[in-house]
Amino acid sequence: MSAHAAAGSANSPSPAASTSTAAVPDTSVEVRPVTEAEFPDWMRAKGTGFLMADRITEEDVALRLGRTDLSRTLGAFEAGRCVATYRSFEQQLTVPGGQFVAAGAVTSVTVSPTHRRRGLLGRMIRDDLAKARDRGEVVATLIAAEYPIYGRYGFGHATSTVEWEIDTHRTGLDPRWAGPECGGRVDLVEPEDVRKSGPELHERLRARKPGAIDRRTAWWEDRTGLTSFSSEPYKAAFYAVYRAPESAGGEVEGLVKYGADDKWGDGKQPLNTVQVHDLIATTPAAERALWRYLCSIDWVAKVRTGYRAPDDLVPELLPDPRAARVVTSADWLWVRVLDVVRALEARTYSAGGGARSVVLEVADPLGLAGGRFRLDVSADGAGRCVATEEAAELALDVRELGALYLGGRSAERMLALGQVREAGPGAAARVDALFRTPREPWCPDIF
Ligand SMILES: CC(C)(COP(=O)(O)OP(=O)(O)OC[C@H]1O[C@@H](n2cnc3c(N)ncnc32)[C@H](O)[C@@H]1OP(=O)(O)O)[C@@H](O)C(=O)NCCC(=O)NCCS
Repeated sequence: MSAHAAAGSANSPSPAASTSTAAVPDTSVEVRPVTEAEFPDWMRAKGTGFLMADRITEEDVALRLGRTDLSRTLGAFEAGRCVATYRSFEQQLTVPGGQFVAAGAVTSVTVSPTHRRRGLLGRMIRDDLAKARDRGEVVATLIAAEYPIYGRYGFGHATSTVEWEIDTHRTGLDPRWAGPECGGRVDLVEPEDVRKSGPELHERLRARKPGAIDRRTAWWEDRTGLTSFSSEPYKAAFYAVYRAPESAGGEVEGLVKYGADDKWGDGKQPLNTVQVHDLIATTPAAERALWRYLCSIDWVAKVRTGYRAPDDLVPELLPDPRAARVVTSADWLWVRVLDVVRALEARTYSAGGGARSVVLEVADPLGLAGGRFRLDVSADGAGRCVATEEAAELALDVRELGALYLGGRSAERMLALGQVREAGPGAAARVDALFRTPREPWCPDIF
């Protein structure tokens, strides 16, 4: 999970001061929501778990407290000292078809090294997931620090990510480029402009991108330097927007935030790397123009794209796609279905050909969302889901349902891996025909 939120009090005892590696009976540790008075210690414990304890200030604690719903912030306490942390918050997740579903976003998960593997994560996450379901949240989401942690709690790897490094000298792009050919323009803008135009642009993006999540005002304030945590100090950056041609309204259709290092080789060779921190665009023209812009900045030898969808256009926007080398390819957003009927009815399906129904047997070891469900898809792609006694066609764990939910993973592949079971032939293929989306889901953010 993101270590971005890690923080604690600089005045708290040092992490090692009062912890012990002696075996502690489980009952000596109490798991419960933290109080305001305990919040600095909770932050100190979180910093310990994320190996960031020495970079936390009182200002960080105060800023974080103002943004934290303490009723959803759990701590594990032993003799008054916090030894494990966990938090969830309300989030909106875009599903295929563009609807936003209510998600409980899980973050700040840590267990101090002195208290690991005694079931503390299990106690916190079971408690929170049951409450999330009772609150009416349709799914829970998280970004996993390590792959093996969350499957046991019903989370499935639902979106993936890729980062490319582009060798700008190998792209085959015309070095004389002087701006978008389409009549649109790329303009450098200031952080305050981003706070004005960015949120509206992102709202348009997330309505059309399954896997995207909402961004709050604080997200924009942190990313543009209005607020800053000492554990993640704001670094000045460049911002550029793409505007459509005046004839088409001149609207902002894309935004990029990027930084650059300052590196020169022997013989006065410029070897600078541009790191993209955020690039969102609502049209292919905007994507093309912004990547073209980044690959054409003088002195820049490499562009690191940041974490993109695996089917991002960027490599093939280059005349020579091999100029873009994959440097990271990994799981990203994990989804845990809490309410099968509402989840399956919130998204749309591909209703193109063949049978348009399937009966799923969903196993949920935590007892939150399991059962047998029939999904019927109408000609317009809407789904209707009901509990049923009919014979199941595909049996799967709620973890695999979460993985399939956003349309980016394959039931046929899961069948080959032994992760789902068919009761009748062709059920996995039918699920894929219904669930899979033409483009990969993508979550541009970490939390
Ligand atoms: C990951 C972490 C929170 C786990 O906490 P924990 O209290 O040790 O976990 P639990 O004791 O509840 O473990 C439950 C199960 O998950 C397994 N597990 C926990 N963490 C694991 C990991 N990193 N890799 C593989 N398995 C893991 C345990 O072995 C145990 O398995 P079992 O049920 O078969 O016995 C803790 O190790 C930690 O704080 N790590 C560093 C920070 C981090 O990665 N946080 C997660 C951010 S997304």
